[in-house]
Amino acid sequence: MNLDLQNKKVLITGSTAGIGKEIAREFVKEGAQVFINGRQENRVRKTLEELTKYGKVNGIVADLSTSEGIKEIVNKVNSFGPIDILINNSAICTSHNFFDINPNSLKETFELNVFSMFYLTQAILPSMMEANYGRIINISSEAAFKPYPKLLPYSMSKAAVVNFTKGIAELVSGYNITANSILPGPTLTTELDNYFVRKSVVESRKYEDIKSEVLKKNNPTSVIQRFVEMDEIAGIVLYLAL
Ligand SMILES: NC(=O)c1ccc[n+]([C@@H]2O[C@H](COP(=O)([O-])OP(=O)(O)OC[C@H]3O[C@@H](n4cnc5c(N)ncnc54)[C@H](OP(=O)(O)O)[C@@H]3O)[C@@H](O)[C@H]2O)c1
Repeated sequence: MNLDLQNKKVLITGSTAGIGKEIAREFVKEGAQVFINGRQENRVRKTLEELTKYGKVNGIVADLSTSEGIKEIVNKVNSFGPIDILINNSAICTSHNFFDINPNSLKETFELNVFSMFYLTQAILPSMMEANYGRIINISSEAAFKPYPKLLPYSMSKAAVVNFTKGIAELVSGYNITANSILPGPTLTTELDNYFVRKSVVESRKYEDIKSEVLKKNNPTSVIQRFVEMDEIAGIVLYLAL
């Protein structure tokens, strides 16, 4: 497909695994200049090795839950010129018993899932406004509107992502800049898929049975009655980047 993204600079946070890596792969294949990110240097290196065969990709090791990490990533991407497309994808999702949630676990979730998106957007938006061009795509979750009791900090943070995105869309009204959020349901990431494969071997049960059992238990009201595929999300991101 030629989506005319060849000259675009794209930053995808948390893109050395899962959905972020799949999004990165699609942009690299489209000929965009892609910046991937994660905290662990070895995962950044491995992802670079995997994606460079498709096109232009750079890696930035930075922990975005810290202000130093935000500064680091902004300085590195800005040294290549202004970013056209920002995809705030990195997040943590930790399961807690509500009565065990302490200020630290709440803080940790909000630092990465909300504050990093806020500060990164605050740092990158001025150059988009100056260029009168930009696409901001924030990965939320269906948990934003369907909070899971065991994932309350995560669900609250994802509601904040939707709220923030709408606010940014209003802020840039009149510019050729769009801000959108995507709210996926449970997604079949490579990590989850590997877990199902391992479980099916250990328990000598069918992979498909385990997968549908987990979905029914954790998401009994799923409308699509299956896990979302990572490339479905990547496709929506590409569409919103046009
Ligand atoms: N998976 C799902 O079912 C699902 C459903 C709905 C929405 N979502 C959303 O989709 C997005 C991606 O989820 P995923 O499941 O694909 O994630 P994932 O597989 O856990 O991957 C997370 C990525 O973020 C990086 N990361 C983690 N902490 C970071 C930090 N402090 N600073 C920078 N990078 C960091 C990880 O690399 P390092 O560990 O090396 O840092 C990794 O590259 C998230 O926003 C999530 O909320 C996921």
